[in-house]
Amino acid sequence: MMTDAQELILEQVRKYHREQQSDPGFVPGVTPLLPSGAVIDEDDRVALVGAALDLRIAAGVSSRRFERAFARTLGLRKAHLTNSGSSANLLALTALTQRELGDRRLRPGDEVITVACGFPTTVSPILQNGLVPVFVDVELGTYNTTAERVAAAIGPRTRAIMIAHALGNPYPADEIAELARRHDLFFVEDNCDAVGSYLHGRLTGTFGHLATTSFYPAHHLTMGEGGCVLTNDLKLARVVESLRDWGRDCWCEPGENDTCRKRFGQQQGLLPFGYDHKYTFSHVGYNLKNTDLQAALGLSQLGKLAEFGAARRRNWQRLRDELDGVPGLILPGPTPGSDPSWFGFVLTVEPDAGFTRRDLVAYLEARRIGTRVLFAGNLTRHPAFADQTYRVVGELTNSDVITDHTFWIGVYPGLTTEMIEYMARSVREFVAGRR
Ligand SMILES: Cc1ncc(COP(=O)(O)O)c(C=O)c1O
Repeated sequence: MMTDAQELILEQVRKYHREQQSDPGFVPGVTPLLPSGAVIDEDDRVALVGAALDLRIAAGVSSRRFERAFARTLGLRKAHLTNSGSSANLLALTALTQRELGDRRLRPGDEVITVACGFPTTVSPILQNGLVPVFVDVELGTYNTTAERVAAAIGPRTRAIMIAHALGNPYPADEIAELARRHDLFFVEDNCDAVGSYLHGRLTGTFGHLATTSFYPAHHLTMGEGGCVLTNDLKLARVVESLRDWGRDCWCEPGENDTCRKRFGQQQGLLPFGYDHKYTFSHVGYNLKNTDLQAALGLSQLGKLAEFGAARRRNWQRLRDELDGVPGLILPGPTPGSDPSWFGFVLTVEPDAGFTRRDLVAYLEARRIGTRVLFAGNLTRHPAFADQTYRVVGELTNSDVITDHTFWIGVYPGLTTEMIEYMARSVREFVAGRR
């Protein structure tokens, strides 16, 4: 029940939100058109302030509600919130190294197949766990790898596959899941950029043993900072939870005690009998928890996932239609059988286009059209990888093309049709002036 004071404050929050929203209108070349951003409405702001008024500054009731609701949205049994998508990736992969998995656990020196081109923290957990990334190339146009490339990379020490769906576009996760099954490999889907995307009618993030998401403002749903690990496997879920929560064996919520009814009645490790279960540690863990402020915002955002996805698809399609046939550019396309909830609109400048990415990006940025490169491009070319152990299978030709010639512009729901048309017109005008 809300008190009168709470109601009054939240009413003022709504008023404040409306004041902040006074729309100056879109002024081409002046209004910044971000490549991505959070879309926060009145209800979101109220949810966030409401949690703050209740001083729910650690994880609590909204976090658990979000976890249940998000797992339900994806049709999976368990979701565990984290403080970021990178933390979610770290937890997902680290869970696969734990003793609960017996002989199947990943051990130092084991190999994990991934792609060379993408976001670094899909790969960092592989190295952070003493494992060896095996890099394969991706395709131009979809910016994803193929099951054939992954199959060619499987060697005697391969134990897992961990790949991100590129900018919302699903890779053939069904075929890769089947490969994983046949070769007894674990499969982790980094779904940070693709929440709400479908492959053959099935949501991405539901094909692997584990999936991860990010709730940073650029992503499909936001909590400011945040992430999630999802799985259907209750054993893996329990390990993820423990690793997230300091490695503890106990699962009581803050303020709860003895939900296992054996708090002082167990023999654990070499501890004295009955050592407090709340302080018994079964994993070498982290603290990667979120707060209820984040989760309250996330819950409010979750109801808008379908609407956000529709706007992303609409914006992407308009750019695709408007730019069709423009010379010198490789336009993006969905992978076969997919219905992507796009993260961005990717363009690759053909090497013989008569202009460079640098020229085009400079032109767009001068018109206040925000651009981004495809994250790291070829990760192996970064200083961080200079002294790391990894294996490359095949040539990384396309990853290099992407590093040199690819960028993306926004499709997020904050962009209107008028803005999208201006973006497309700007690209067309630039190309027309250079040929
Ligand atoms: C594919 C992918 N994985 C992981 C992350 C990391 O998410 P976060 O920024 O929440 O740590 C990102 C970030 O954008 C990403 O694009």
